[in-house]
Amino acid sequence: MTFREDGYAAVDWAARYLERLDELPVLAQVEPGELSGRLPRAAPEQAEPFADVLRDLDELVLPALTNWQHPRFFAYFAITASEPGILAELLAAAMQQNAILWRASPASTELELRVVDWVRQLLGLPEGWHGHIEDTASVSTLAALIAARHLTGRNVVVCSEHAHSSVDKAARMLGMELRKQPVDDELRMSLDGLDLADAAAVVATVGTTSFASVDPVRALAEQARATGAWLHVDAAYAGSSWILEETRWSQDGVELADSLVVNPHKWLLVPIDCSLLWTSRPSDFRDAFTLVPEYLRAAEEVDSLADYGPALGRRFRSLKLWAVLRCYGAEGLRAIHREHMRLARLFADWVEADPDWELAAPLRFSLVVFRKKGSDDENEKILECANRSGEIFLSHTRLDGRYVLRLAIGNARTTEEDVRRAWEVLRT
Ligand SMILES: Cc1ncc(COP(=O)(O)O)c(C=O)c1O
Repeated sequence: MTFREDGYAAVDWAARYLERLDELPVLAQVEPGELSGRLPRAAPEQAEPFADVLRDLDELVLPALTNWQHPRFFAYFAITASEPGILAELLAAAMQQNAILWRASPASTELELRVVDWVRQLLGLPEGWHGHIEDTASVSTLAALIAARHLTGRNVVVCSEHAHSSVDKAARMLGMELRKQPVDDELRMSLDGLDLADAAAVVATVGTTSFASVDPVRALAEQARATGAWLHVDAAYAGSSWILEETRWSQDGVELADSLVVNPHKWLLVPIDCSLLWTSRPSDFRDAFTLVPEYLRAAEEVDSLADYGPALGRRFRSLKLWAVLRCYGAEGLRAIHREHMRLARLFADWVEADPDWELAAPLRFSLVVFRKKGSDDENEKILECANRSGEIFLSHTRLDGRYVLRLAIGNARTTEEDVRRAWEVLRT
């Protein structure tokens, strides 16, 4: 078989997979270790045809997939790898660009700068911010905290009790002290007793993982300015929604941030991984990260994007972002966001109208947090049973110790019928 024929077969496999998602369970219906038990313990000595890999994809791998592309995937933050993004990933692999410096891939470096700037404009962010792509929000936040510590020489990070665990992890990896602020009634970081006097950074979240709540960014920015702390905004999930004017209320104060992370792999239809990290202080970022060994010295006086983050090797991630932005257009993406928020509102209305159920947190963006009026045990059982059915997949969190369910809408294939089905499954 040739590359071309194997390639057609692989694209056929991908197309067939996307067409039959509805027939597959959302949550993998396997036990831990089931796939491991069926995989050879060592790599093959003799070459095998690629067709055998595709066969085993069906026989071994497919049953162990939790299908994130499924229209009834409502857990964590639901995401979509759109078709243009999938094809761009294939092409990026074919070109094997590694943009360790400009001359190593002028195309990757310059396309990245341009498309990240396109997104900056679409989201209404300030002119002049420098943006680049990291793999995940975890690494983007790590990079921001490294820059903050480098600039301030301080060692304390402040965030809300509902900030994502990536902030805890970054602080731990950096040996920084983490201070958590409690939240107010609307699950926003409380300003009561907030003290940033010795803080290197404060991390504000727009769209927290559990509840999609929005911290008071402007007030935090003002305090950070006054004390010389760095303000990093984590809008990994909700930031993409700023493509709509109607969600820009949640951007208030973000223009004062020192750095901001938004993940197009969460809610902008780009296959994982693609995390955008902007900074209004590019020279401080470069100071924190630039390190040019002799073998990377080049004649051109051009920035390398490796000077803005931890990794030297850089994938051609901008290609998939470029493909998605062009093939959907801003209008196409806006329509999807509006539909997701409409569906979340609809589901929340059903919950509110049912005397046996209640909303557990205010509806924000496309995330509904709710529970059956009853015990934690009952809610846990409902969730486990619904997820085991394979028809839907939701996740949970805790609010003030109480077990609550989360329905997150973020898959481009999700229809009103899918959301209705989720409500039926949960109630029965
Ligand atoms: C608000 C927020 N920040 C950061 C992250 C971490 O994102 P990543 O998986 O890209 O590291 C998440 C993940 O869901 C998140 O919800």
